[in-house]
Amino acid sequence: VAPLKVGIAGLGTVGAEVVRLIETQARVLTGRSGRGIRVVAVTARSKAKKRDVDLRGVEWAKDPMALATHPEVDCFVELMGGAGDPALSAVETALNAGKSVVTANKALLAKHGLKLAKAAEKHGGALNFEAAVGAAIPVIKTLREGLAGTGINRVYGILNGTCNYILTRMEQEGLSFAECLKDAQRLGYAEADPSFDVDGHDTAQKLAILASLAFGTKVAQSAVYVEGISSIAPEDLRAAADLGYRVKLLGVAVRTAKGIEQRVHPTMVPKSSSIAQVMGVTNAVTIDGEGIPPITLVGPGAGGAATASAVVADIADVARGIRANPFGRPIAQLHDTKKAPMERH
Ligand code: NDP
Ligand code: HSE
Repeated sequence: VAPLKVGIAGLGTVGAEVVRLIETQARVLTGRSGRGIRVVAVTARSKAKKRDVDLRGVEWAKDPMALATHPEVDCFVELMGGAGDPALSAVETALNAGKSVVTANKALLAKHGLKLAKAAEKHGGALNFEAAVGAAIPVIKTLREGLAGTGINRVYGILNGTCNYILTRMEQEGLSFAECLKDAQRLGYAEADPSFDVDGHDTAQKLAILASLAFGTKVAQSAVYVEGISSIAPEDLRAAADLGYRVKLLGVAVRTAKGIEQRVHPTMVPKSSSIAQVMGVTNAVTIDGEGIPPITLVGPGAGGAATASAVVADIADVARGIRANPFGRPIAQLHDTKKAPMERH
């Protein structure tokens, strides 16, 4: 069987790890996919930049669009970030050409997910984005496939590694917000513009994706109420601790009589609760389903290796020919957020 030919746009924290993982796990991936996976072309902003990754024999495409339209590329992997161009046009073009797309870009999906899913549906390519929420935690597949037969009433959790890392170190070491953020950036956890993390927008984008999968609603970041953590100081955390609480930035999506409520804000959680034990860059997502006890998934929520693990699993799905509806059901069956009140799916 011919190998799946992959083109990767973006060779930063995540992209470089994806190239490495495809190389080091080649045998395992071939065994699991039934065919090889070969990176045939890549691109990034700077060709001259020194990267700790072996790109011998790999073509350098002149820009993301050239990669998305590259005749050799079966699967376009978008790891540049940003809700606009070049990510948007390149992904849309690849899907319209019938290629499959793998991305970790929650900003793009929360804003244009519906349009992109329509393109995938129309032209037959896959649109896979397991890494966009919870990095290595397989929460997309859990909601889309694992719980396909279960009505969901609530999804909530810690969805941003940078914020949880900052809150943890501020509480445990008394460090300033700015110092902790700097470390999160150095470790590759933060977004290119870290205000997306600390102002809660990254959590909101992830929550909008989870809500769509859980409730069958059209993904819409604009439906999420957002409050971040940037005004929290170490003394606030100490005051919470004195009362027996920890502060966590939570994303909550819940079915109500008025529709699906989605909100992101710092929350005081009892120190004895399981969510209060989630520290550092770790994420946790709890899913309350009809007739079953809550399911909680916990794992590394950011970082190159953790994110690459999910990206490569998505590429392996493409190689195996698995193609799911990106948001769990055909686009025509997705509801508006406000119009999906008590109906269970
Ligand atoms: P980085 O900033 O480390 O890397 C971005 C890469 O994209 C760089 O290689 C950059 O090129 C390239 N790039 C940026 N703009 C352009 C452009 N206009 N044309 C061509 N190439 C471009 O980001 P990350 O690897 O951290 O993140 C990538 C994606 O993964 C984002 O969508 C992010 O939200 C998502 N993600 C990140 C996680 C993480 O923990 N880091 C976790 C989960 C998702 P150059 O190197 O030349 O500057
Ligand atoms: N900046 C994001 C975070 C990356 O810190 O959670 C993972 O999506």
